[in-house]
Amino acid sequence: MKKKTPAGREAFEAYYAALYGSRWPSLKEALLQEPVYEELRAGLLKSYFLDGASTLPVKALDVHSGMRVLDLCAAPGGKSLLLALAAGTEGSLTANDRSSARRARLKRVLQEHLPAELRERVFVTGHDAARWCLYETDAYDRVLLDAPCSSEGHVIRAPEALKIWSPKRPHHLARQAFSMIASALRVTRPGGLLVYATCSLVPEENDGPVERLVQRYGAMAEVLPAEAPWGEATPFGRIILPDTAGGRGPIYFAVIRRKYDPGCSDSPL
Ligand SMILES: C[S@@+](CC[C@H](N)C(=O)[O-])C[C@H]1O[C@@H](n2cnc3c(N)ncnc32)[C@H](O)[C@@H]1O
Repeated sequence: MKKKTPAGREAFEAYYAALYGSRWPSLKEALLQEPVYEELRAGLLKSYFLDGASTLPVKALDVHSGMRVLDLCAAPGGKSLLLALAAGTEGSLTANDRSSARRARLKRVLQEHLPAELRERVFVTGHDAARWCLYETDAYDRVLLDAPCSSEGHVIRAPEALKIWSPKRPHHLARQAFSMIASALRVTRPGGLLVYATCSLVPEENDGPVERLVQRYGAMAEVLPAEAPWGEATPFGRIILPDTAGGRGPIYFAVIRRKYDPGCSDSPL
């Protein structure tokens, strides 16, 4: 007889206790506290509040004025605001999200916060991030993939979500994230940067897709150091967890440079 996968609050507890060991009780306690928000104000029509560690993946993307930028999973849009500000009126931002309901919220956030001259440089789309590379490759100077993930910070406060939680969920999300990051790499132009981010606690969803990317497409991807004032280095990136980062996070990110294909004639080397 096939063994049933455990599910629900107890399975959630057991899974994260096994992952984090003696750290889990303090990490859980920190996740249950009110999140620490950062106020974005400069350059916006009105303030926007987002998790204190959410700005780190955007800073790591190192966007400059005039760049062509793609935010593959953009809603509700906090990171898109920062990307639009950094790309400026000479650059452009494509802010994508597959969910139509969340896209409506994204449009509202962009409309209410960005000055008109920047809003004109932002294009909202609704494609599947995992399939983008079938239509466009080598196209953007900078790509942010803020992937859908386990979001334990939300799940732990949502009894309905906890009731149906199963260890199959992080595994499924990690597989989905790999399809998206493999697509995102091809969409980034050679020499450009891709930042992969999640708000997950699970290494399989964080370093996991990056490790697979390097194994499969190492000739096209170089992992760079992920710098931040808080958090802990992981084998491929950095994770900021609320028990040690003053309530900020969870945020994981990795920085990847799209390499010139060694056999490709567009290499300047
Ligand atoms: C972690 S949230 C993004 C948060 C956003 N970057 C921000 O800072 O406000 C992930 C988003 O990915 C979207 N999404 C899920 N699957 C997708 C797919 N296959 N292609 C594009 N977007 C997707 C979800 O609708 C969700 O809005």
